[in-house]
Amino acid sequence: MNYDIANPDLAPQGARRVEWAGRRMTVLGTVRERFVKEKPLKGHVVAACLHVTAETANLMLALRDGGAEPLLCASNPLSTQDDVAAALVAEGIPVFAIRGEDPETYYKHINAVLDHAPAVTMDDGADLATVLHTDRRDIEVIGSTEETTTGVIRLRAMAADGTLRVPVVAVNDSATKHLFDNHYGTGQSTLDGIIRASNILLAGLNVVVVGYGDCGRGVAKRADGMGSHVIVVEVDPIRALAAAMDGHRVLTASDAAEEGDVFITVTGNKHVLRAEHFEKMKDGVILANAGHFDIEIDLASLGADASERRNVRDNLDEYVLADGRRILVAAEGRLVNLGAAEGHPADVMDMSFSNQALAAEWLIANEGKLEPGIYTLPPEIDEHVAAIKLEALGGGLEKLTEEQASYLSGWQEGT
Ligand code: NAI
Repeated sequence: MNYDIANPDLAPQGARRVEWAGRRMTVLGTVRERFVKEKPLKGHVVAACLHVTAETANLMLALRDGGAEPLLCASNPLSTQDDVAAALVAEGIPVFAIRGEDPETYYKHINAVLDHAPAVTMDDGADLATVLHTDRRDIEVIGSTEETTTGVIRLRAMAADGTLRVPVVAVNDSATKHLFDNHYGTGQSTLDGIIRASNILLAGLNVVVVGYGDCGRGVAKRADGMGSHVIVVEVDPIRALAAAMDGHRVLTASDAAEEGDVFITVTGNKHVLRAEHFEKMKDGVILANAGHFDIEIDLASLGADASERRNVRDNLDEYVLADGRRILVAAEGRLVNLGAAEGHPADVMDMSFSNQALAAEWLIANEGKLEPGIYTLPPEIDEHVAAIKLEALGGGLEKLTEEQASYLSGWQEGT
């Protein structure tokens, strides 16, 4: 079997983590049980470019249970859990990912999974899809799936300029993905990453959250719950107003720069913290990014202004500026929850990856019927995923009475 990982000997340790994550992935468990019986992916190669984590490993096992031949490469050079990669290889699933790999190796690994002529591809950030639409136009696929907001934005831009040549399921657009993974998953794991990197007490600090979307709202809520004073920076007036009414101060990036102790970018945009902001920051502030790419904090300009850069703790670098102020950056400005912690908890990836598995099944079931474009999974799938998760949490779902159903679909009854 062809693969490229850091150390196959780490497999037993990785297998323990995969098993632990699997215990908390109830919805994926039910999908797996059905996949074992029905084999809806039989004979199809599925190439996934996702964060190589214990939760992703459970998705790979579910795809294999469904009859697919799964392959995995990383969707970020710093998020790979090398022990998990080894555990998957020990299971006979080819993995091409090494934590800390350079950009050349990263793209070599994407090409390696594409060399297996996949029928379905899965992405987190659209790097694989981009290669599929540039250097590897030789590969014909039934369809692709996309996990995250930034990837969906890139794919919509490809559709808008006529480049997109395959149907893509935007898994991020499923309610059971973005309302839970982005909000609760990013909220908790981003703070987890910052705490692991720095071991600071968040209570009493000014935490600046740049971007108040699905992820930013979750980060702000968790920081608030830990006793931080949350300041939000937003460019969208409606989201900025929502932040204000959620009880946060809303400031421009320039004003927030003077007050913040910890800065968290989560916009999906470029250079939202840059030289003009670094100039105003206090000594000892910590910068972290939870947005998909490592371009939200302009590290090139921070590096250019710094007289010294040194590593002070695992996943925490200190930049010393000419005037002596120190600015600390967690996880090299890459996704802090994956670079400095373990990514989202399995409980929430359960829903995201159930949607991924069901999206692969849906694409294969609809082979030849879908035009190139961006698709959202049918609402019944969303509701099915939510209902199973609710049941696992011990919740009960109320049912409409016949009288209520008829009232809601009529117009005659009024005052
Ligand atoms: P979203 O589109 O719901 O929210 C982004 C927000 O940032 C918007 O409200 C937008 O107005 C705001 N924004 C854009 N430019 C800005 C600027 N210059 N200053 C201030 N605000 C600005 O997106 P979502 O779902 O919250 O995702 C954000 C990023 O996080 C994306 O890159 C996404 O791919 C990534 N993501 C990361 C995860 C992780 O594990 N760390 C998980 C899920 C998503």
